[in-house]
Amino acid sequence: MLVLGVESSCDETSVSIVRDGKEVLSNAINSQIDIHKKFGGVVPEIASRNHVYQVSMIFEEALQQANVKPEDIDLVAVTMGPGLIGSLLVGLNAAKTFALMYKKPILGVHHLAGHIYANAIEHEMKFPAVALLVSGGNTELIYMKDHFSFEIVGETLDDAVGEAYDKVARVIGLPYPGGPAVDKLAHEGKDTYHLPRVYLEDDSYNFSFSGLKSAVINLAHNAEQRGESICPEDLCASFQDSVSEVLVNKTFRLAKEKGVKQIIVAGGVSANKGLKERFMKENPGFEICIPSIKYCTDNAAMIAVAGYYQYQKFKKVDDLSLNAYASLDLEELYEV
Ligand code: KG4
Repeated sequence: MLVLGVESSCDETSVSIVRDGKEVLSNAINSQIDIHKKFGGVVPEIASRNHVYQVSMIFEEALQQANVKPEDIDLVAVTMGPGLIGSLLVGLNAAKTFALMYKKPILGVHHLAGHIYANAIEHEMKFPAVALLVSGGNTELIYMKDHFSFEIVGETLDDAVGEAYDKVARVIGLPYPGGPAVDKLAHEGKDTYHLPRVYLEDDSYNFSFSGLKSAVINLAHNAEQRGESICPEDLCASFQDSVSEVLVNKTFRLAKEKGVKQIIVAGGVSANKGLKERFMKENPGFEICIPSIKYCTDNAAMIAVAGYYQYQKFKKVDDLSLNAYASLDLEELYEV
């Protein structure tokens, strides 16, 4: 089965063709990072305009790279949310146009399901599983007893991890997106600032990163006012240690409680080296799957793969009235 995936929820325009949920024939991506860098973050209106400009070229590139004709596609899978609404609508309308022109079935896919199923490209998914989803907009711990069964056990009460990384980077004067820059500096420093580890009093699986983010901002500002200098490497290392310790501990605790066969780490922040190292170092014996960097950040291959498994499970497709949603509940969308 050949699935054509389309992703445009934020600042990446991507189209991919994947055979049988596994073999990535093409994964064409245009990233707008260089455009948004000057503004220190994604500007939604500029993102939508660039999607419009790129989308037809990315469709063509994906078909050419895969050496596939539009007629050969069996299913079109497209991100329907959550994300920036203007951006989502560009990908969705391009996908609908393709489906209408070539008389192909279309299926709306949840962006976070896409991140989780990025794992199926390089690993065989085993259930029950726990997925830690860490990206610019989300931080969630999800229990999956089977394919496309999502139970959100914990989530952030304030900032997403990626968002905290980006803000900390900005305070230190690092470029957008901050995650990779903080990660790199962290490896050149030591945890000397001993920032708080936020486990929350109710000992739940929820997360909170705004306090930690404020601690870093205050530290930097206080030092500046006193005319003292901070050590950016040590501050990044301290921030990264604090974040990864909480993420890893909570994930292992839930994995043990549920007796899972696999731990999946997904989303843009799963590209973080410090997080990966801690997961491997402290692993009490779980199979831990983390996608290669090219499948960690937003891409359409993950949407094509998720679309494939979604179709296998529900045997249902959408029609051309399919819409996009800025917020979209993962559990509700796939409730059986
Ligand atoms: O999943 P993603 O590409 O987009 C969505 O939010 O859906 O994630 C982007 C986020 C950004 O906040 C970026 O700073 C973060 O992932 N990120 C990282 C790393 N690479 C990307 N954060 C920490 N360490 C990294 N190596």
